[in-house]
Amino acid sequence: MRVDFIYIIMVGLPARGKTTLSGKLQDSLRRDGIRCRVFNNGDLRRKLTKDNTSYPEFFDPKNKTGAALRERYAIMNLNHARTFVEGNQGKPKAAIIDATNVSAARRRMLLSELPAERVLFIECINEDRDILDENIRYKVCTPEFSHLSTEEAITSFRKRIQYYQGIYTPLRTERNFVKVNTFHYRILEENLNDGLPFYDRIRDFLVTPFIKNLFLIRHGETYFNLEDRIGGDSGLTVGGLNQARALAGHFEKKRIPLIFTSDRQRTIQTAIPIQEAQQGCKIMPLEEFNEIDSGVCEGMSYAEIRKKMPHVSSARKQDKYNYVYPEGEGYVTMEERIKRGVKKVLYLSSHSENIMIIGHRAVNRMVLSHFVFKRKEDVPYIYVPQDKYYHMAINQNKKLFQLKKYA
Ligand code: F6P
Repeated sequence: MRVDFIYIIMVGLPARGKTTLSGKLQDSLRRDGIRCRVFNNGDLRRKLTKDNTSYPEFFDPKNKTGAALRERYAIMNLNHARTFVEGNQGKPKAAIIDATNVSAARRRMLLSELPAERVLFIECINEDRDILDENIRYKVCTPEFSHLSTEEAITSFRKRIQYYQGIYTPLRTERNFVKVNTFHYRILEENLNDGLPFYDRIRDFLVTPFIKNLFLIRHGETYFNLEDRIGGDSGLTVGGLNQARALAGHFEKKRIPLIFTSDRQRTIQTAIPIQEAQQGCKIMPLEEFNEIDSGVCEGMSYAEIRKKMPHVSSARKQDKYNYVYPEGEGYVTMEERIKRGVKKVLYLSSHSENIMIIGHRAVNRMVLSHFVFKRKEDVPYIYVPQDKYYHMAINQNKKLFQLKKYA
């Protein structure tokens, strides 16, 4: 019996989402009963070299010692991948070789050792400056850079990227490849010359957001909430702070590496106790998650708006989704920035088991509707309480969506 196997070789500059994609792809293929393992060159280098190899010149192609060492790890990893695929015959297998592999020479070397008709190259592309900056800022928090200040580490990492840029040859002549925009989940180019096993599944995976657990929380009670006032930057009440503490207790046993908030104090104040109950957790405020800007109505209560600006209240009632506050926003105009915020979250949270967003009422409605189909006219009425949160889990086979009480 012939059993299927595939070698997947990642290609792309650092910080383009290769490792995240590899980890998610591994999970997805395993769920389909395929034995899959990721072989990461960087992990091998960090494990086997005692010396510091994080400084940029190590990656300078002219640095003979660095280049030889990296080549050695590439070959070692390739051999590990081959042993994995060739061993324990009789099971379908996929080996993912996760490294930059940006030079044509490196790829030729890999291909000379593998059956080319069983190799799929996946090139990860993302040129969104903003996302790259944030990703680099997050990446340099790893132990590899702990001897440097954040700014020094960022400079060092950028320099490393430049060295890779100097030898980068995008995929063009390889037999089987796919180029993917890892920020937008979009296939940019495909070139398939062999009927590669599992390819239909892999292709579908590349364009599907994949979320193990996403906890979507609304900030705790604020002074503005007590008066039914909208917008502003009000802080949490004692009740709100208690809600934040209850959330911290509720999530204590889960590992939350990153909490995404808006840049308003009510979401950050809700995040702080949760962060404090975790180890190595970072709060990342994103302005994409700021509450709907109610323009001339900022700081007013709904009753005041009804009284002083009845035209606003009635027009909004007529078509809440499309209504745009004078000098402000509407649900309709929030759509783009919320989408961008969600993509940022998915990109920056890598392959985390748990992702947390602490947002606002209108924001959370829009985030929910990004994942779960709702008619537009129903989106502005989605229930977003402060004593419960939404738990979502999404992959190619399921979509879980649950409202849970935390206290
Ligand atoms: O908590 C109040 C609030 O977040 C306001 O800041 C915002 O304008 C409002 O909810 C959004 O809800 P709706 O669209 O139902 O007015």
